[in-house]
Amino acid sequence: MTDLQEVLDEIAAEAASVEDCGVVAQYIPELAKVDAKQFGIAVTLPDGTVHSAGDSATGFSIQSVSKVFTLALALGKLGDSVWSSVGREPSGNPFNSIVQLEQEKGRPRNPFINAGAIAVVDLIMAGHQPKEAIGEIIQFIRHLADDDSILIDEHVARSETAHGDRNASLAHFMRSFGNIDHPVDHVLGVYFHQCALVMNCRQLARAGLFLASQGRDPVTGAQVVSEQRARRINAIMLTCGHYDGSGEFAFRVGLPGKSGVGGGILAIAPGKASIAVWSPGLDRVGNSKLGTAALEQLARRMDWSVF
Ligand code: DON
Repeated sequence: MTDLQEVLDEIAAEAASVEDCGVVAQYIPELAKVDAKQFGIAVTLPDGTVHSAGDSATGFSIQSVSKVFTLALALGKLGDSVWSSVGREPSGNPFNSIVQLEQEKGRPRNPFINAGAIAVVDLIMAGHQPKEAIGEIIQFIRHLADDDSILIDEHVARSETAHGDRNASLAHFMRSFGNIDHPVDHVLGVYFHQCALVMNCRQLARAGLFLASQGRDPVTGAQVVSEQRARRINAIMLTCGHYDGSGEFAFRVGLPGKSGVGGGILAIAPGKASIAVWSPGLDRVGNSKLGTAALEQLARRMDWSVF
């Protein structure tokens, strides 16, 4: 049987020897300061066992990986009515693109592009002040990770607010079509805080475990989402989790995955493992370069591809 810890150690050693580890996100100044030469990986198995290697205990900005958790939260609160505000088709476009929004009357293609995630935040905010909505998101993620120490980096949230013109455009555009109910600055405030959550690979892999275990946290026994919903969230991760790089990620890795511009990726091997990898250097479409390569290796060596 393949030794998982040995595979992770080898993957981390290989990552440490790579010269070209991509470029850290430049458009959020606080993220542009992060040292690209870092790499961490953690795998949580359905019995709760964790294996890890590299900088797996170093916190990073989870950015768009958070969109998986806000989608699960919104589905739990509002059920399938979420799908009247946001679709579930791959966009084939960059994560911050606006073109389809005009053609499709302000309904974003899926919950993982920026416009879709902003629409999901607007749904979560129903009946809440922005601070309460932020509190609800952070509590949900702490519950999933079984870790109350998870925090939001206010510097990152502020940095993004100061440079958030594109996201503001997306939100105003959707609001003009009636697809955003709350004031745009309130919705963006919540969205930027959700993106600024700081987690390490061990916490992130733990938080994703319910998606590898039919919607149930196998350690605490809590049913987080129904089995069908877990399957569907995984389907959207596979088809839309890497924006216009989703096809390439499915081709190379063969697992549902969600990336963030902080360099994190959450990948799910249904029934087998929840995996978090982090390396801040990004490829051309904004997905972690070494993180993707590591997942490709791991899925191949463990025979975890869903195909
Ligand atoms: O809205 C933004 O641009 C960022 N807070 C999140 C973007 C992101 O992580 C896209 N990921 N690859």
